[in-house]
Amino acid sequence: MKSEKNVADIAALVRRTVVIVFGCALVAGAIAFFITFRAAAYDHVQDEARALMNTAMAIRGYTVEEVRPEIRQRSGYEEGGDFHSQTVPSYAAQAVFDRLETGGYSYREAALDPTSPEDRATAFETDLINRFRNGSEGGMISGTRQENGITEFYQARAIRIEDQACLECHSTPERAPDPMLTEYGADGGFGWEMGEVVGVQMLTVPIDKEYAMIYEILAIFFTLMVILFAVISIVVVRPLQRNVIRPLRELAVVTERASLRGGDDPLPQYGAAEVRRLATGVERLRRSLRTALRESQRDGDQ
Ligand code: HEC
Repeated sequence: MKSEKNVADIAALVRRTVVIVFGCALVAGAIAFFITFRAAAYDHVQDEARALMNTAMAIRGYTVEEVRPEIRQRSGYEEGGDFHSQTVPSYAAQAVFDRLETGGYSYREAALDPTSPEDRATAFETDLINRFRNGSEGGMISGTRQENGITEFYQARAIRIEDQACLECHSTPERAPDPMLTEYGADGGFGWEMGEVVGVQMLTVPIDKEYAMIYEILAIFFTLMVILFAVISIVVVRPLQRNVIRPLRELAVVTERASLRGGDDPLPQYGAAEVRRLATGVERLRRSLRTALRESQRDGDQ
């Protein structure tokens, strides 16, 4: 029975080694996989956000440079004519993004003292605006945040008054077009000064979906590794069982029996080369022992 236990140990030893090697490979692989894919997902979302932010900037520019002069001229704005929200850069950019519902993107322009009450900065946005105002940040802040249980990537750009044209509507209610006051009132969006950071462009992109994809890929990777592990342990242990463990076990039984009761059973002659050599060696030993015994008996008889 003792030999049985030792034989089983070889298989256990191999299995244990395979488990350790695979365990390490699995953990190291999963960590490397996770870090790489997460960074890639973050980069991807960041690129997406940058492209969308540039789109917002383009809409603003287009509105100011092309739509506004055209409408101004046609509506006789200079002579106290119509005012159209559509010619306001901030309105145009937000209106376009409101229609861009797919993908969960959101774009808004928030100010501490907004023209439109809908644009009032939230606590989070107020903090960003103040950071820009303090000059502790460059022109852009980005990162991730939890919002309603969803992780989103945000990119915030400071809105600074750099054009005198902005002050036409944002300095005093007297300077602003009357129809604008009728539409928006005179409570907010005034008293802004050149060079002042008045708000932020806030672009958010949900990042959860990208992360969920990583977990899916990770699960597939794990499953494949476990299957590979099972296959390899079978492929490695099977021939070991057939060529080493089984002939060794038989060899042990036969030599044990021979040493105890002097049996003369044939030794197994199959299996791995080393095992066969061992069997041959034992057989030779057995034969020379028998000869030596016979000779010493003969010497004793004389
Ligand atoms: C023709 C008047 C007009 C001009 C010129 C104008 N704005 Fe505005 N601005 C508005 C109106 C009206 C709104 C509210 C739009 C809305 O409905 O969201 C607004 C909104 C904003 C907002 C969003 C927060 C808020 O107050 O609701 C920012 C920021 C802003 N403008 C900055 C600027 C800057 C910077 C410029 C110069 C490049 C500029 N505006 C030029 C009329 C104007």
